[in-house]
Amino acid sequence: MKKLLIITGGSKGIGRATAERFSAEGYEVINLSRSAMDLEGASNLSVDLSDVGWSAAHGSALVDLIQSKREIVLIHNAALHYSDSMDTVNDLEMQQSLQVNLVAPTQLNQLVLPYMSEGSSILYLGSTLSEKAVPGACSYVTSKHGVVGLMRSTCQDMAGRGVHTACICPGFTDTEMLRGHIGEDQDVINSITSNVAFGRLIETGEIASTLYFCANNAVINGTVMHANLGQIER
Ligand SMILES: NC(=O)c1ccc[n+]([C@@H]2O[C@H](COP(=O)([O-])OP(=O)(O)OC[C@H]3O[C@@H](n4cnc5c(N)ncnc54)[C@H](OP(=O)(O)O)[C@@H]3O)[C@@H](O)[C@H]2O)c1
Repeated sequence: MKKLLIITGGSKGIGRATAERFSAEGYEVINLSRSAMDLEGASNLSVDLSDVGWSAAHGSALVDLIQSKREIVLIHNAALHYSDSMDTVNDLEMQQSLQVNLVAPTQLNQLVLPYMSEGSSILYLGSTLSEKAVPGACSYVTSKHGVVGLMRSTCQDMAGRGVHTACICPGFTDTEMLRGHIGEDQDVINSITSNVAFGRLIETGEIASTLYFCANNAVINGTVMHANLGQIER
């Protein structure tokens, strides 16, 4: 039986590139997102992770696709990123961010864990904002800090079970999420990349390669790994 990648948010961006990479390496792929991933041979579960009831509604369909206990790489990639601040963030946006970025990964872990054989891994997408804050990103910063705690708990609670974990924190990666925040204005892009040691945005395939490396090296366990081309501190 093939190794299996289960990924959230595989319809675009980093998730799409990651699914393509694992598929090319011979993995079967299951994607969970609202829109489908257009990757040949991949299975799609149409799921809105902001709905706390998604796991009760779609869990058995996921388990049917997994089939049996096997080596699984589970990647929590989908995320919500609102622009909000501590003094204005509304309850719903805070709850949705925590649901998609933190609670849904926990729900998915609990669905998939019984099917993970030794050698499996659980990888989380964090962010530079998992370990620092910037103004105007309150719900995202809060939830991405929480992701680090969830990963560290995963490491502690999986000890002795042959399942390793890491939190990979991309820097500015050229995806819809990033473009949604910075737009296409070249001056804004130049200002962002002027703080990157390599002077450019990260390509999605570079994060996919980092995830592939982490999945296949159990020595990377309980680790927060920044993948950002080097950020210049001023
Ligand atoms: N791009 C960056 O610069 C950057 C930097 C740091 C960290 N990251 C992290 O990297 C990960 C991927 O980011 P990206 O830039 O590739 O994002 P993206 O291009 O916006 O893609 C986000 C993915 O999440 C899915 N998603 C969003 N809301 C969902 C929901 N309610 N239910 C199910 N799926 C949902 C989307 O699928 P549907 O729309 O089809 O549902 C999409 O496939 C995220 O965790 C992000 O925080 C990105």
